[in-house]
Amino acid sequence: MRLGKKTGMVAAGAALALTLTACGGEGAGSGGSDDAAGNGDEDVKVGVAMPTQTYERWIQDGGNVEAGLEDLGYTVDLQFANDDIPTQTQQIDSMITEGVDVLIIASIDGTALTSQLEAAAAANIPVIAYDRLIRDSENVDFYTTFDNFAVGVAQANALLRGLGYLDENDEETGEEGPYNIELFAGSPDDNNSHFFFDGAMSVLQPLMDDGTVTVPSKQTDFDQVSTQRWELETAQSRMEDLLTSTYTGNDTKLDGVLAPADVLSRGIINALKGAGMGPTLDDGLPVVTGQDAEIANIALIDQGVQSSTIFKDTRLLADQAVAAAQSFVEGEDPEANDTETYDNGVKVVPSYLLEVETVFKDDIEPVLVDSGYYTADEVASGQAAE
Ligand code: BGC
Repeated sequence: MRLGKKTGMVAAGAALALTLTACGGEGAGSGGSDDAAGNGDEDVKVGVAMPTQTYERWIQDGGNVEAGLEDLGYTVDLQFANDDIPTQTQQIDSMITEGVDVLIIASIDGTALTSQLEAAAAANIPVIAYDRLIRDSENVDFYTTFDNFAVGVAQANALLRGLGYLDENDEETGEEGPYNIELFAGSPDDNNSHFFFDGAMSVLQPLMDDGTVTVPSKQTDFDQVSTQRWELETAQSRMEDLLTSTYTGNDTKLDGVLAPADVLSRGIINALKGAGMGPTLDDGLPVVTGQDAEIANIALIDQGVQSSTIFKDTRLLADQAVAAAQSFVEGEDPEANDTETYDNGVKVVPSYLLEVETVFKDDIEPVLVDSGYYTADEVASGQAAE
C-alpha cells in the first residue's frame, strides 16, 4: 500500500490532540543529544530493527518509520530479521557498532535483547521499543504502541457481535446463546500477546462463568492456546486438531473463534474451510476475529468470509516513533500519555498509546478506504499495490 505520508501526518496531529496527559520520561537517553549533531542533520543516524518481512504490517511499519526519519533529514539503517532472534541481536549489535544516535526496535522475543540494550546504554544510545515492549531491561527509554489491552477487549466484543450476542454499539441484543467458541493467543515471547489475551478474557471470562459462552475443547489457559512466533501454519494445525478432537463424530457445533491476529485468522479459516465449513459466514462458517487489517483479510471480510479485524493505523505509530526519536535527538524526553501500564519487569516504561478501531464489512469503506489506508481496488483484489 501507499505510505500515505500526508494523511499519516494529519492523522498524527489528531492523535496528538487525543493525548491524555503529557508527562516527561525519566531523562533516560539524554545522552543521545550529546551524540546527535543537531536538528534535522544528516549526521544523525537511526537504527530501525523490525522483526520480519513475511508479514505485511511490519513491512509497512519499517517503510513508514524510514520515510518519516528521512523527512527529518536523518540517515536510516532499516533491518528486518526474518523472525530469527540471533539475526535480530546481530543486526542491533551492528547498529550500535556503526554508531547510530537512536535505536527503534520491534523485538521478536521481548526478553532476548538485554545485552544489546546494555551496550546501547553504554554508548548513550536511547532505545525506543516499537509496538512490542522489550522486557527485563533498565535500558528501554520509551515505548510507542497501541492500547494492547483495548485490542483484546475489542476482539472479544467483535466476536460476540459476530455471534449475535452484542449489537454494533456493544450492547446486548437479547440473544442468549449458548455459543461454542475456541480461543487462540499470540506468541508467548511477545509481551503484547498477554495483553491481547487478558483484554479478551476480561470480556469473555464472565460469559464463560455464566454459561453464555462455552469452550468445548476446555483449552482456556494462555499456555494451551498460544501460537509460537505467530505462525499461520501452527494456528491452522491446532485448529485442524481441535476440529478432529472436539467437533467430529458428535453434535457439537463451533460458532466462533477468537483469533488475535489476521495472520492466524487466515490459518484458522483455512482449517475451517478444509473441514467443509462455509465458505462464507452466510453459509455457516464460524465467526473469526482478527487484528491488523491486513489487505488479504480485508478482502476476506469484504467477501463475507472473515467476520472482523482490529485496525491499528501503523502510519500513526510510525509518526509517534519518529517524533520520539526526534525528541531524543534534540535532547528532550518524548511526550508520553501512559506512565503506569507497561512494567517491563525492571521498570515502568513511559509510553505513548494509540487508539484502535474495530472493522466489520460495513466499516471497510469509511475507515480504510476514505482514510487512504487502502484503495477500493486493493480491497477488491486483496493485494496491496506497490
Ligand atoms: C503486533 C500485532 C501483530 C503480531 C504478529 C504483535 O506484536 O502488535 O499487530 O499482529 O505482533 O506480527
